[in-house]
Amino acid sequence: MKLSIIGGGNMGGAIVRGLVQGTVFKPGDITVIDVSEAPLKNVQDFNPAIRTALNNYDSVEHADIVILAVKPWLVRDVILDIKFKLNYSKQILVSIAAGVTIACINETLLKAKEEMTLPVLFRAIPNTAISIKQSITLITSQNATPEQTALLLKIFNELGSAIVLDESKIEAGTALTSCGIAYLFRYVRAAMLAGVELGFYPKDAQNLVVKTMLGAASLLDENKANPEVEIDKVTTPGGITIKGLNELEANGFSDAIIKAIKASR
Ligand SMILES: NC(=O)c1ccc[n+]([C@@H]2O[C@H](COP(=O)([O-])OP(=O)(O)OC[C@H]3O[C@@H](n4cnc5c(N)ncnc54)[C@H](OP(=O)(O)O)[C@@H]3O)[C@@H](O)[C@H]2O)c1
Repeated sequence: MKLSIIGGGNMGGAIVRGLVQGTVFKPGDITVIDVSEAPLKNVQDFNPAIRTALNNYDSVEHADIVILAVKPWLVRDVILDIKFKLNYSKQILVSIAAGVTIACINETLLKAKEEMTLPVLFRAIPNTAISIKQSITLITSQNATPEQTALLLKIFNELGSAIVLDESKIEAGTALTSCGIAYLFRYVRAAMLAGVELGFYPKDAQNLVVKTMLGAASLLDENKANPEVEIDKVTTPGGITIKGLNELEANGFSDAIIKAIKASR
């Protein structure tokens, strides 16, 4: 199965590095296309068998899957550049661009190809943990068969985990996952600041907080319990944790998180 990925930057490069270690694509069947040499050199340094193309979209013609991994405002231009190389009857088109809807892509495709057929199209929204194959990737589709959806899930499950959502949920899901990862980093930073004030070196405070966060996430992931159940286990009546929890809420912790996620939608 052949893959062309347009844009080998942060996300595109991470996807390629993850996929060459997986089972769906052979390195020699992946072509990374970019307008800059640096990202192409990076993927070649990672695995010289990966094909690269500078300013050249020829590989799109022979690809089974084409992934658009450029910045959202460049998606339209790229589609116009590759329009005559796309083959809707044979190919799966995947966009990872945040905020670019299926309707928006269709509009460009219809204008570009001057035909009424619409392709098999997926939006796949990963987060930056894709670079260590730990992304939760949100997937939505148009015209896809169950087999094609299963293939996309297999591809992105090799880069962490993936779930299929209705497109109406994608922006809200992106707020929780792609933006949410930044809020978790901000929690780590805030807790580190407290740790330093309490006498730890920053790197030691970071290690304590990160290991605690990994443990908390694993507990919820494995037990599938509501977080309040786990909170109850640490909250002794009259103890120190409840004092901290009440301080958090008095300072608007939950409210701030809710507002942040709603603002990111
Ligand atoms: N960061 C996240 O958490 C996240 C989550 C979900 C989705 N996304 C989406 O992922 C996409 C890629 O983001 P990124 O951070 O990986 O961007 P990036 O690092 O800028 O990578 C994009 C690459 O595409 C190249 N490029 C620009 N125009 C091109 C063209 N016409 N043909 C081929 N390559 C071209 C860029 O080169 P130049 O730098 O020289 O322009 C750059 O190397 C975005 O649409 C973003 O919304 C990001």
